[in-house]
Amino acid sequence: MNNFIYSIPTKIFFGEGQIKNLGHEVKKYADKVLLLYGGGSIKKNGIYDDVVKQLNDNAVEFVELAGVEPNPRIQTVRKGVDLCRKENVKLVLAVGGGSTIDCAKAIAGATKYDGDAWDIVLDGRKIKDSLYVASVLTLAATGSEMDVAAVISDMTKNDKIGFKSELVRPVFSVMDPTYTYSVSKYQTAAGSADIISHILESYFSNVNTYMNVRNCEALLKTVIEFAPIAIKEPTNYEARANLMWASSWAINDFIKLGNEVNWTVHPIEHQLSAYYDITHGVGLAIITPHWMRAVLSDITVEKFCEFAHNVWDIPYIEDKFKMANDGIDRMEEYFKSLDIPMTLREVGIDKENFDIMATKAAKSMVNNYVELTKEQILEIFEKAL
Ligand code: NZQ
Ligand code: ZN
Repeated sequence: MNNFIYSIPTKIFFGEGQIKNLGHEVKKYADKVLLLYGGGSIKKNGIYDDVVKQLNDNAVEFVELAGVEPNPRIQTVRKGVDLCRKENVKLVLAVGGGSTIDCAKAIAGATKYDGDAWDIVLDGRKIKDSLYVASVLTLAATGSEMDVAAVISDMTKNDKIGFKSELVRPVFSVMDPTYTYSVSKYQTAAGSADIISHILESYFSNVNTYMNVRNCEALLKTVIEFAPIAIKEPTNYEARANLMWASSWAINDFIKLGNEVNWTVHPIEHQLSAYYDITHGVGLAIITPHWMRAVLSDITVEKFCEFAHNVWDIPYIEDKFKMANDGIDRMEEYFKSLDIPMTLREVGIDKENFDIMATKAAKSMVNNYVELTKEQILEIFEKAL
C-alpha cells in the first residue's frame, strides 16, 4: 500500500427530504449564489421549486444561469465567470448531474483566476483560490458531487479535458434519491456504466491494496444489482439510493487511496465525446470489454480471474484465460442487458477520426494499469466499431 493523505471533506445530506438543509447550509458560506442548472429537467420535476424555496426562506440572494450542456462547454463556463464577477457571487450552487456540477467547479475556479478559464481546465494547479461549490445531485453517475474533478469541452477544437483541484470539491451536496426518479432509462443505464467504469479504473491497479480491492468488488456488486431494478422500476427508492451513494464512493478517492493508477478507459472515451458529443457512460460501456481483452495477458490474467470470481461468481477452473474471458463476456452481456448500444456505429461513430482520437488518447498512457500504444487504442476502436 502506497502512502496517502485521507481527506474527503464534502458534507453529505443524504436521503428523501434532505433539501430542507439546503438554505441554512448555503447561508454558512454565502449571502448570494449562482444557481446553475442544465436544460430544464429540474423545472419539470419540481426540484427547481424546492431549491428556490430554500434560498428564499433563508434570505439567500441568487442569480441564475441555465442551459449547461451534457458535456459542458467552455463557453458556458465563461458566461458563468462573467456573471459571478459582475454579481459578486460567493458560491456556485449546481443543481443537476455531473455536467452541471463540473461546470460549477470550472466557473468557481476560473472566477478567481486572472486569465482565461481554459487555462485552468488545461492545468487545475493554476487554481489558487475559488468560489465555494455546492450541489444538489439529480443523477447518479459521475460522483462529481463529492470529488475534485471536472471535465470541460471545447467543441471548436474537439477537446474534452478533465482537471482536478481540491479547491473546487463541493463543500456540501444534497443527495435525495427521489430526485433521480425522473432520470430516463437511458441515462440511468449510462450513469450506472459510468459508476462501474470508475470502480474498474481503480480496481485494475498494479498496487493491490487488499481492502480497496474488496471495497471495489462490493461497489461493483451494488451497481450490478441495482441498475436493472432502477431501470425497471424508476421509483424504487432502495435502487436509486444504492446507485446514488455508490456513485459518490466510486470516485471520491476512497477506493484509490494507496493504489492509485492513471485511468485508461476514460481518456479513450473522452475522445469519443470530444469528437461526437456522445453520452459519456455509453462510450465507456462500449470501450470497456474491448479494453479488457486488449490488456489481458500472462501478467494480468490472475487479476481478471479474481474479477470473474469475486464479481461474477464464476468458479475457478484450470484454464485461467477461459475463466478471465468468461468474466469479460459477463461484463459485456451485462451492459447489453441494460440496453446500452454496444458498438460505435450505433452511436454514430465511424472510422474517420480513429487516428486522431487514438493519437490524443495515447498521450494519457503513462503509469496506467497497462500502458497502451496508439496502435493498441486503434485496435480497440476497430473492434468496438
Ligand atoms: O440538462 P438537464 O435538463 O438537467 O437534463 C440532464 C441531461 O440531459 C438529464 N438529467 C439529469 N438529472 C435528471 C435528468 N433528467 C431527468 N431527471 C433528472 N433528475 O440527464 C442528462 C445528462 O446529464 P449530465 O449531467 O450530462 O450527465 P452525467 O451526470 O452523466 O454527467 C456527464 C458529464 O460528467 C463528466 C462526463 O465526461 C460528462 O461531461 N464526468 C465527470 C467526472 C467528474 N467530475 O469526476 C468524472 C466522469 O468520469 C465524467 O468524465
Ligand atoms: Zn466517468
